[in-house]
Amino acid sequence: MTMTVDIRSIMGRGPVIPVVTIDNPTTAPDLARALLVSGISVIELTLRTPGALEAARLIAEQVEEMVVGVGTVLDPSQAVQAAEVGAVFAVSPGFDPDLLTAVSAAGLAYLPGVQTASEVMAARKAGLRALKFFPAASSGGADALKQLQPVFPDIAFCPTGGISLQDAPAYLALENVLCIGGSFAAPARFIQTRDWMAITGSARQACALRG
Ligand code: 3PG
Repeated sequence: MTMTVDIRSIMGRGPVIPVVTIDNPTTAPDLARALLVSGISVIELTLRTPGALEAARLIAEQVEEMVVGVGTVLDPSQAVQAAEVGAVFAVSPGFDPDLLTAVSAAGLAYLPGVQTASEVMAARKAGLRALKFFPAASSGGADALKQLQPVFPDIAFCPTGGISLQDAPAYLALENVLCIGGSFAAPARFIQTRDWMAITGSARQACALRG
């Protein structure tokens, strides 16, 4: 039987979850190894390229220490596919109760996105206490999250979208931010050129955001 991992424990593995949109799945295991040696043990692969599920499968098979999630999950069928390739969590840009049911049934942890107080309330009503804040930068950034904290003191956020290495400390300083998501920790240009040294450099900087 598959044991669903608690999303908070995944979020607590480090300050940054690299969000990766991968074109060539064969690069995925080397990418995962470069992240691991840098101290990052969680990765989100967006389902926005044809090879994304294969990339998730290759990492899950070859780099067992890496916790693999899939992102941009919009449909219940994607939750099933993600579980089949060995992903342990799913991320979606918004909140949909039907998707929560499907993701849970597939045995995956779930991190849905919210942008407004009403969406936080809907997700909270469904029993969720850990949410992605998306798109973070254009939705008010760290200032918005700071205002949500006293209203929803029991919610932990993973802001994602438009966050740079420079912006990251302002988010991570907030008591309601457990981690952040972003492509800056594993830039696409370095993945495309298989520049694992550069990925290691970016990932180490991301890790160092929380001493
Ligand atoms: C995405 O949509 O790929 C994630 O939100 C990451 O976005 P970013 O490139 O702005 O970090």
